[in-house]
Amino acid sequence: METKKEIVIQVQGLVKDFGARRVLNEVNLKIYKGETVVIMGGSGCGKSTLLRHIIRSYNPDSGKILLYDKDINQLPENEFDKIRKKMGMVFQNAALFDSMNVEDNILLPLREHTRLDENIMNIIVKMKLELVGLRGFERLMPSQLSGGMRKRVGLARAIALDPEIIFYDEPTAGLDPIVAGVIDKLILDLSKKLQITSVVVTHDMKSVFTIADRIVMLYEGKVIAEGTPDEIKNSSDERVQQFIMGSPDGPINFFQSGGDYLKQLTE
Ligand SMILES: Nc1ncnc2c1ncn2[C@@H]1O[C@H](COP(=O)(O)OP(=O)(O)O)[C@@H](O)[C@H]1O
Ligand SMILES: [Mg+2]
Repeated sequence: METKKEIVIQVQGLVKDFGARRVLNEVNLKIYKGETVVIMGGSGCGKSTLLRHIIRSYNPDSGKILLYDKDINQLPENEFDKIRKKMGMVFQNAALFDSMNVEDNILLPLREHTRLDENIMNIIVKMKLELVGLRGFERLMPSQLSGGMRKRVGLARAIALDPEIIFYDEPTAGLDPIVAGVIDKLILDLSKKLQITSVVVTHDMKSVFTIADRIVMLYEGKVIAEGTPDEIKNSSDERVQQFIMGSPDGPINFFQSGGDYLKQLTE
């Protein structure tokens, strides 16, 4: 008999419009405890918007998001805070505070959400830095760090409160292939060592197939494919094949993508 896996996140019929544009169009998604799910899709297909709904930064126009079976948009702030503490977020650009050194950046969530003794907090910071391979970098300022190191500090901050779920928005974007590989390995290590449920948004194909237990492909605000890496590689959907091969020719039309590809090229 199959053991029943615990569902930690459920997105049901999520719809979001920005102005006249429907960015998320009836998205349904289930994330199980302990797995690493990669949400892949082209620029502007709604990946970050979906993540922001799951952490309640955005409210749905319709549909709902259940975390641990609770509809997060129905929860009062103090109830949601308890769930928020179980979630870590690694933002697209690492989002470090440039005026604070590495240690203070990682201390932020600890100071905000706990009443631990300063000495204990400092030990936690050291442990988290150890986990991301940056022990001894406490006093450096973000401007003194490379792109990959900034991401790792962002990761150390995201795991400061020992989250059960961690969200990564384009963790390897803008990194050279070797540093990207280091970040991928770290994501894998953390998910195994700490048994964290991980949701990773990316369009980096190498990363997708390195870290995913399960892949979800978003296209024009809808989930168009879902499965294990092998199932996705063997998908008969031409859009999926075009995307994973990075082919300019196919059903996904560059000029119909709302200009997001062009926008990204010129950013
Ligand atoms: N706060 C917002 N207001 C208006 N439009 C937005 C907002 N956030 C995102 N969008 C638009 O929604 C679409 C999806 O954006 P996003 O979720 O950031 O895409 P992705 O992360 O997949 O690249 C884009 O066309 C983007 O310009
Ligand atoms: Mg994004």
